Amino acid sequence: MSFPQNRMRRLRRSARLRDLVAETRLSVDDLVAPLFVREGTDAPQPIAALPGVVQHTVESLAKEARRLADLGVPALVLFGVPATKDPQGSQAWDPNGIVQVGLEALRAEVGSHMVLISDLCLDEYTDHGHCGVLGPGGEVANDPTLELYGQVAVAQARAGADLVAPSGMMDGQVAAIRAALDGAGWADVGVLAYAAKYSSALYGPFREAVGVSIAGGGDRRSYQQDPRNAREALREIALDVEEGADIVMVKPALAYLDVIAKARQQFQVPLAAYHVSGEYAMVKAAAERGWLDGTAVALEHIGAVKRAGADFILTYFAGELAEILNG
Ligand code: PBG
Repeated sequence: MSFPQNRMRRLRRSARLRDLVAETRLSVDDLVAPLFVREGTDAPQPIAALPGVVQHTVESLAKEARRLADLGVPALVLFGVPATKDPQGSQAWDPNGIVQVGLEALRAEVGSHMVLISDLCLDEYTDHGHCGVLGPGGEVANDPTLELYGQVAVAQARAGADLVAPSGMMDGQVAAIRAALDGAGWADVGVLAYAAKYSSALYGPFREAVGVSIAGGGDRRSYQQDPRNAREALREIALDVEEGADIVMVKPALAYLDVIAKARQQFQVPLAAYHVSGEYAMVKAAAERGWLDGTAVALEHIGAVKRAGADFILTYFAGELAEILNG
């Protein structure tokens, strides 16, 4: 039996018809650009595993932010690559630490034209590469780390961050950061919580970008989430919302679209997703070989993350897609 009145292809006949009935529309407003700033370099340094992404100098960072602002990209997230590391990661909260210097330069350059988000973690700054300080048994110590996260949050707020983005997956980190910010008079600075962050092999290129290797060949499985779990992610998000997160995030993105979709249904706060370094690198590597059309795949992938329910997406494709979406 056929039902001619129900032909699906009727609405696919022209580009304008397809646009009219599109359920998801990706726009420049959905994009957040991750940027790296490196201390002690006088020229931007390429990152081999992230083609097109560089470790910026403070100067080139400001220039890139200006370019992105002019393209209409609403926000960036900043990561620092310090010249020196120590067991505590003290460069993370030093007022002259590279992220603080970078934030000040960004604020001076873009004013209120871009939302400045700073990643809040210790792994780029600790000599052992973990996201927190180590306890006597070499374990990542939860509560002593919270204390330091509070200091980092205040330093980043003072330097100009609109939102701080804790990515360390310590228990209670959102509450500790909220309390530290409020206590220091920064009640207006928000928390974008990496709420459901998985222990993923897709962070490989990022670790090259920030020069992090975990001591003794260790991993982050004692604090980041087990990729086999989805219900647990909803518990993590619920806790972060209770603790005062203004925005919650799922990371990585494509391998966790089920988590994004469930989180969208269950929570009313804005939901972000991080399309991470490995997700970007895979597309770039295949495109370089001529195996696929990188731009088309990028649009399809980032579009899928939005379709799953993300309100905005952190992606190394932000600049590239902004140019296309504006064009
Ligand atoms: C931790 C942090 C990481 C990323 C963002 N924040 C690395 C990690 O958890 O090991 C990964 C981002 C990416 O892969 O693009 N500071």
